[in-house]
Amino acid sequence: MKRLIAVLTLCIIGLSASVAFAEAEWDFDLPLSVVSNDYAILVNRDNLLDQGYRPSNLVSVNLRRSSSAVVQMDAVAAAALETLFADAALVTDYIYRVQNESGVWEERTFSDSNGLQLLLESGYRTYSSQYTSYYNRLARNNGVDDGYVAPPGASEHQTGLACDVISVDYEKNNKYMNETFYNTPEAHWMEEFCAVYGFIIRYPKDKEDITQVPYEPWHLRYVGRDIAGYIKRTGLSYEEFTENWKAALAQFLADGGTVQAQLLLESTAGPAEIESFVTNIIGEDGDAEISLTLY
Ligand code: DAL
Ligand code: ZN
Repeated sequence: MKRLIAVLTLCIIGLSASVAFAEAEWDFDLPLSVVSNDYAILVNRDNLLDQGYRPSNLVSVNLRRSSSAVVQMDAVAAAALETLFADAALVTDYIYRVQNESGVWEERTFSDSNGLQLLLESGYRTYSSQYTSYYNRLARNNGVDDGYVAPPGASEHQTGLACDVISVDYEKNNKYMNETFYNTPEAHWMEEFCAVYGFIIRYPKDKEDITQVPYEPWHLRYVGRDIAGYIKRTGLSYEEFTENWKAALAQFLADGGTVQAQLLLESTAGPAEIESFVTNIIGEDGDAEISLTLY
């Protein structure tokens, strides 16, 4: 009898262990190794960087600027941005749609043998330079924080993964960067294709209440192509995306999973089959000029 009880007990323990094991499944469309890597960092007013935070692999960015000041960025993000600029210059014909003053959508055609000429306005910013920008803006704006400049510690520019990109023409004709930049072919092209290079438009128009930042069609954030493609397809803000994968992680841990085991599983399972949102973007457009130079 004792033996039977012991066998039954062992069976129950084994069964519950296997149930717990079976339940601990990573249930998110992107691998844990992708969503939790360093390029996925969330920075905003609720997720501040320390004053001493400085990215480790900053490089100078070799791109067209309106001033001679050197801009630095994370090395991987800088390389991706350089490819984006080079590909933009190959776009000699581009059709895009803008909404006129009456709200009616109109088709416009960009055509120029020089291609789209982008201009880098800003990249990595230190905590102290963000501090200066923030308080300067407050002073100019009667002490009102309009959201356009993040408080020190709340700016993605401090990560080296964010940059502000406008166009040569826009810079010539406008004193300030504002929402009107979206009417340019360069802004439309970046919105359509930046995911191909691993960037997202971090502060979209329809997500201002979540990001707490007004629409910034020029602010690109490097997150890598998998996450960028995911955001492009789902239309989520970066805050929503982060909340979703963190909820998936909480569930996974509650089910008995461990981060270490999952990362090991992903690293030994070979390349994850991530749906190629990027290919979809190119496929829909069918722009051979662009697809020729893709990495
Ligand atoms: N313009 C964005 C919010 C920044 O200052 O980081
Ligand atoms: Zn910016």
